Amino acid sequence: MASVPQPWNDEVEMISGREFHKFSVRHGVYRLPVDETEEDRLDKVHSILTSWEDFGGLILPDPTEVKLSAVLDCGCGSGAWADAISDEYADGEDISVVGVDLYPPKQCEYLDFQRWNLNAPFRLDQGVLSERYTFINSRFLANGIDAARWPSYIQDMYGRLRSGGWLQMTEAYMNIQSDNGRRDEAPSLGRWWHLFSTALEQQGRDPRVGTTVVHANQRSWANLKALMTQAGFDCIQERHPRLPIGGWKPGASRYIGERVFDLMRGTLESLGLWACCRVHGMSAQSFTDLLDECVQEMSNADLHLYIQFYSVWGQKPGHGRRQSKSTRRSSQVLDQTMPPPSIGR
Ligand SMILES: C[S@@+](CC[C@H](N)C(=O)[O-])C[C@H]1O[C@@H](n2cnc3c(N)ncnc32)[C@H](O)[C@@H]1O
Repeated sequence: MASVPQPWNDEVEMISGREFHKFSVRHGVYRLPVDETEEDRLDKVHSILTSWEDFGGLILPDPTEVKLSAVLDCGCGSGAWADAISDEYADGEDISVVGVDLYPPKQCEYLDFQRWNLNAPFRLDQGVLSERYTFINSRFLANGIDAARWPSYIQDMYGRLRSGGWLQMTEAYMNIQSDNGRRDEAPSLGRWWHLFSTALEQQGRDPRVGTTVVHANQRSWANLKALMTQAGFDCIQERHPRLPIGGWKPGASRYIGERVFDLMRGTLESLGLWACCRVHGMSAQSFTDLLDECVQEMSNADLHLYIQFYSVWGQKPGHGRRQSKSTRRSSQVLDQTMPPPSIGR
């Protein structure tokens, strides 16, 4: 098997007016910007997720069943999640939080950030990835993990957990959907998705990782849940909340949707810049026009647009651990109440 290249510095290069991590771009590992604008976007996404009730907060399993003494955040980005865990759950000196990324944030006093390409087997790392953790977070890595790597990536995380430790994973399906079946009225969003997803596939990534596949009235839970089951996880649960774009949903969701809408242009730009301009050869002006059209469509509240999220979490079986009542109850509730979303792929 060819060896997986590892990043050795934080050198950046300018592409279409944005800063990209030179190593990640040149080796085709991850092709989103890494500049302050992107860091700010990731922080804002994190802030929305922490106040979005349907998502479930920083910790998706029942927090009373989780021990946060040794935490690993895979693909930590701006460090927002790691930072928040260390702030909110730090119990004296009992918590250690490690964040791993191709382009890690600057080290700080309470958090240990390390540079590593997670496409390589964890056993090859002599440092952070050989430690044992009580909790691992992996969020929004579809753009950077090889499609074929997902099973062994999840097995590696299983291997790095202590008995009784938890893994939580979240991915978003960026093919924007309509809650009232009017997605056809947003053709530019469809075009953006086509350009983005085909470029990602050419790069050997799976833009649908985590999604639910529905076959003729039978639901089959695909990908992350199946892979966690195969890896040996127990007490696996999942949640598939829909993140509204714009203020079309009543109640607290209205405010969340408005905040999401404000972030969407930047999100489609960050995710789509390389795909549209480098892979599909679009001019800067055509890309700007496409983003403008997408914003126009997203501002139509009648279309009830949303992003489908997929979160899955599970526990490594351990000595003396029993499935708690709350875990049993919430799995039943999820099974009964979660109709599979019907999704155009
Ligand atoms: C979309 S950001 C998400 C950041 C963070 N998980 C969050 O939820 O805010 C993806 C991050 O994963 C990192 N990443 C992508 N592929 C990676 C890989 N193969 N190894 C390590 N880090 C990776 C990127 O550098 C980027 O910082």
